[in-house]
Amino acid sequence: MFFDLLPETGLACAHRGARSLAPENTLMAAQKAVDCGARCWETDAHMTADGRIAIFHDETLERTTDIAGHPEFRDRRDIHHFTLAELRTLDAGSWFLAADPYGTVASGEVPESDHPAIRAQVIPTLREALDFTVRHNLPMNLEIKDQTGHAGHDTIVRAVLDLVHEARAAHLLLLSSFNHDYLVQAKRLAPGIPTAALQEEQHPENLVDYLRSLGAAAYHPDHRITTPELVRELSEAGLFVNLWTVNDMDRARMFIRAGAKAIITDFPQRM
Ligand code: G3P
Ligand code: MG
Repeated sequence: MFFDLLPETGLACAHRGARSLAPENTLMAAQKAVDCGARCWETDAHMTADGRIAIFHDETLERTTDIAGHPEFRDRRDIHHFTLAELRTLDAGSWFLAADPYGTVASGEVPESDHPAIRAQVIPTLREALDFTVRHNLPMNLEIKDQTGHAGHDTIVRAVLDLVHEARAAHLLLLSSFNHDYLVQAKRLAPGIPTAALQEEQHPENLVDYLRSLGAAAYHPDHRITTPELVRELSEAGLFVNLWTVNDMDRARMFIRAGAKAIITDFPQRM
């Protein structure tokens, strides 16, 4: 299972793929994670209007696609209101060259020879992402985005697990979510796949007991609310701690020394 494939502590997990080297949550970003020696990749899943699972971070499409250039979609922006076929008509790469979110295009760290491939990126399906992870034997932390208020709310966990089993990827998977009910559902449907509770802003009370009540193997807190003491306490209680999004080497070292299993980072090439 996922954690057995990652024996040492302090490894780099590429956040949304190596998202400072290629457009986030694309197969190119996943390939860059492999190329720079990341030991795992984190990626995000939403359910589409036709019940398919797409790899994408935001709820809306403006930031990381060319939706603004598609007049046929002018009434819609929310990913849950698009079919997978419609999503696949969007360019999910060119925004990265224009926005240059990490300055890596201007600096040349993203070489010009990569630009054509960047422009050719589309929104991957979960099945494509799982096939990539199996092909490269690259453990995947799949974050199931909260679908509250959308049709996928009641079905996404089962739909994700069906695809994981079809792709024979269960041994490479760590499922996480900010919606902790999804973790309980996942544990019931697939007890062998480890889960991780995502948290930002505030830790739940009686944290160790709480995580155990979810059946979670790991805790994924925002690093800004987390201290090395908490990492140590949870590790000693037998829980894995993976922190996001740590882009500062000194902070990464501090958490690793305290026993953090993985550092989820936008810069796996520097960690
Ligand atoms: O899974 C860690 C991190 O990705 C959670 O936040 O918004 O980047 O998906 P977000
Ligand atoms: Mg995420």
